[in-house]
Amino acid sequence: MTGMFPMTRLRRTRASAWSRNLHRETVLTPADLIWPLFVTEGAGVEDPIGSLPGVSRWSVDLIAARAREAAALGIPCIALFPNTQAERRSENGEEALNPDNLMCRAIRAIKQTCGDDIGVLTDVALDPYTSHGQDGLIDGAGYVLNDATVEVLVGQALNQASAGADVIAPSDMMDGRIGTIREALESAGHANVQIMSYAAKYASAFYGPFRDAVGSRGLLKGDKKTYQMDPANAEEALREVALDLAEGADSVMVKPGLPYLDIVRRVKDAFEVPVFAYQVSGEYAMIEAAVAAGAGERDALVLETLMSFKRAGCSGVLTYHATHAAKLLG
Ligand code: PBG
Repeated sequence: MTGMFPMTRLRRTRASAWSRNLHRETVLTPADLIWPLFVTEGAGVEDPIGSLPGVSRWSVDLIAARAREAAALGIPCIALFPNTQAERRSENGEEALNPDNLMCRAIRAIKQTCGDDIGVLTDVALDPYTSHGQDGLIDGAGYVLNDATVEVLVGQALNQASAGADVIAPSDMMDGRIGTIREALESAGHANVQIMSYAAKYASAFYGPFRDAVGSRGLLKGDKKTYQMDPANAEEALREVALDLAEGADSVMVKPGLPYLDIVRRVKDAFEVPVFAYQVSGEYAMIEAAVAAGAGERDALVLETLMSFKRAGCSGVLTYHATHAAKLLG
């Protein structure tokens, strides 16, 4: 340490708790969290998901209480995903257009109970409704058709908006769907319904437990690599984001989360728009597995990973740990 004057010691500001608090560059609050919730048929049903320990599917009559719980903890938004009954799934996913489908009933139940106390974000993609588990319509060879799928997604988005959805979140990765959905929402009088685009969504190995949760895992043949992004690509993510913003997205999402923090930072620096990340099911399961194996402490792992999203530039994070984290932060 000789010869360095004035003496720079970065440990000086770390030496006491008050000083660490004072010098903290990034804050994490419950208002940074979006809580994904799975909906299922029946009444009084809480159905635990084996591969997502601690996460359940809830029947519509219990879902509003979950939303109220989130709002009371300061969580501003929930994200809904349906586990559609097998008999309601079909080749073309028509159930997505049913105004009384699980998703729409859940939206109405939450909005009736919570009003504007919490935002409801809804997933637009056909995988919870198709008998083949792909996010869109397929041709004879199993290829997911782009433009034909977009037409159905528009109907799905309008159906959700009519039921009261606040944020439409297309997770399907079809080209051109943001602009087409935006136009349709405007024409239908839903000018204030937002679009959070899953703009950079990768063909990832981290979605397994989610596919269990919505019941599409056993149905899905092959993979989603012809529409979801190659994990090797970052420049392409910037092009995806540019297009979705030009088409009218209010905010963009990067998904999965932790393995793609570099994408979050590049998107934030390049566009200076609200960026969200989805800490997906496989990431949640990894943390829970680490805890179960005695490899780490849950509270600290949860808060450190969530903080990393904020530090990388996120406005917020979708996480299955949302209520747990909000309690720790509250
Ligand atoms: C599908 C969709 C997926 C997720 C959200 N929407 C899975 C997939 O693309 O197969 C994954 C979320 C998670 O793993 O938590 N439209």
